[in-house]
Amino acid sequence: MLDRRSFLEAAVKTAAAAAITDRLEPAFAQAAQTQTPSSPNDTVQLALIGAGIQGQFDTKTAIQVPGVKLVAVADCYDGRLAHCKELWGADIFTTRDYREILARKDVDAVLIATPDHWHKAAAIDSMKAGKDVYLEKPMIHVYPDGPEIIESARTTNRILQVGSQRVSSIVYSKAKELLASGVIGKLNMVSAWWDRNSSIGAWNYSIPLDASTDTCDWPQFLGSAPKIPWNAEHFFQWRKWKAYGSGVAGDLFVHLFSGTHFITGAHGPTRALATGGLRYWKDGRDANDVMLALFDYPQDFNLSLRVNFVDGGEEGEGFIFVGSEGQMIIAGQSVAISRVPRESEPGYTISTFTEAMQKQYLEEYRKKYPIEHFSGAVPEPYQKFAPPTGYSDSYDHFHNFFKSVRSRQPVVEDATFGFRAAGAALLSNLSVDKGTVVHWNPETMKIEKS
Ligand SMILES: NC(=O)c1ccc[n+]([C@@H]2O[C@H](COP(=O)([O-])OP(=O)(O)OC[C@H]3O[C@@H](n4cnc5c(N)ncnc54)[C@H](O)[C@@H]3O)[C@@H](O)[C@H]2O)c1
Repeated sequence: MLDRRSFLEAAVKTAAAAAITDRLEPAFAQAAQTQTPSSPNDTVQLALIGAGIQGQFDTKTAIQVPGVKLVAVADCYDGRLAHCKELWGADIFTTRDYREILARKDVDAVLIATPDHWHKAAAIDSMKAGKDVYLEKPMIHVYPDGPEIIESARTTNRILQVGSQRVSSIVYSKAKELLASGVIGKLNMVSAWWDRNSSIGAWNYSIPLDASTDTCDWPQFLGSAPKIPWNAEHFFQWRKWKAYGSGVAGDLFVHLFSGTHFITGAHGPTRALATGGLRYWKDGRDANDVMLALFDYPQDFNLSLRVNFVDGGEEGEGFIFVGSEGQMIIAGQSVAISRVPRESEPGYTISTFTEAMQKQYLEEYRKKYPIEHFSGAVPEPYQKFAPPTGYSDSYDHFHNFFKSVRSRQPVVEDATFGFRAAGAALLSNLSVDKGTVVHWNPETMKIEKS
């Protein structure tokens, strides 16, 4: 008798033999029928660990992928467990302790959306328990988490995908294709930003009226963080403190890194210099609300990043990829190319020379650069690509994850990619704390001595 895990793997081997094309479901379903005709085992049974804002959002998206069913939820606040039953039915199993979920045989994969300081432990415990893992970004909270997660995914042979949905986005794919086509020439700089100008944007998430040590499992929330008395703000607004979150770098720069790395194919920067401060939200938090950072990439371009929680303007995120022949701009869910081709001759600055010298200079210049009259079609100066209305990169990211769960083929964003994005992002925190440039080896993923 095959257990669920062996069944899934056996089914996948059959499917692989049957020449899998882009979408695996039909082959998988066929394989499932071959194994156990009356069994519903072609469904991937999912459990959620960390049922807060992103966990619930992710789950709503994940279960839209055909053949995915939510069976269990773990969270430290009873109100969220109760709401999960309201959303997904009274028969889902709920618990405050995720280890109870990991002990269950009916769980194939887990979606981890806890605060950052739990990412490593929850991911490694899950993989050791035989579960595949979708792990929200940032993959790490502190540097040693990275190698441990990578090694655990390797030794347990589990599928682990990091949750930076832009890596599966058709918009970012288009940007990657455009850059590779040379349409903006040779890349020399990337500027990216994430501006916010609201209280919620600055992580002041609502605290439920019944928050207390009766409804919240405070020790289970704290985990490896310093033991302090119950604090509802720390529980529900954890991003504001470094003990649980990774600041604006881990929360937002990481998205800009995963986007930059996906589009350019780069593995990461070699040098970082950052500055920032707590400029507005002096509400007891210890994480900065303004950060500016500069990075050198070995591919001969520089990256500049900015996050501002008090920007006095409209909220938004974006990228400008600057090349020798134009710019590629990603704003929200679209990518646009703006091209002003470089001049075909270098020009001259001769008006301060004597009349005779100007004459002679011009004669020489025109011999070298005869006057050209352009004809033919006017080059397209601006082109914009946008996905269909309602497009969701999160859906595509989950679709890709479950495809790998079934096929046992590599994921689109593995632990190494996740560490390279989060590790690069956290260089900014390190640079601010040390007040110096910091060096990083993007291949070995190690901080180097200055
Ligand atoms: N990919 C994205 O675009 C995106 C967007 C937002 C958040 N995120 C990531 O998702 C994660 C969660 O963020 P959020 O905004 O949902 O936070 P949140 O505070 O709303 O939710 C976190 C939940 O985890 C629970 N929790 C804490 N410790 C736990 C434990 N040991 N076991 C089980 N549950 C535990 C908390 O009770 C809480 O309900 C973060 O890592 C964040 O960076 C990703």
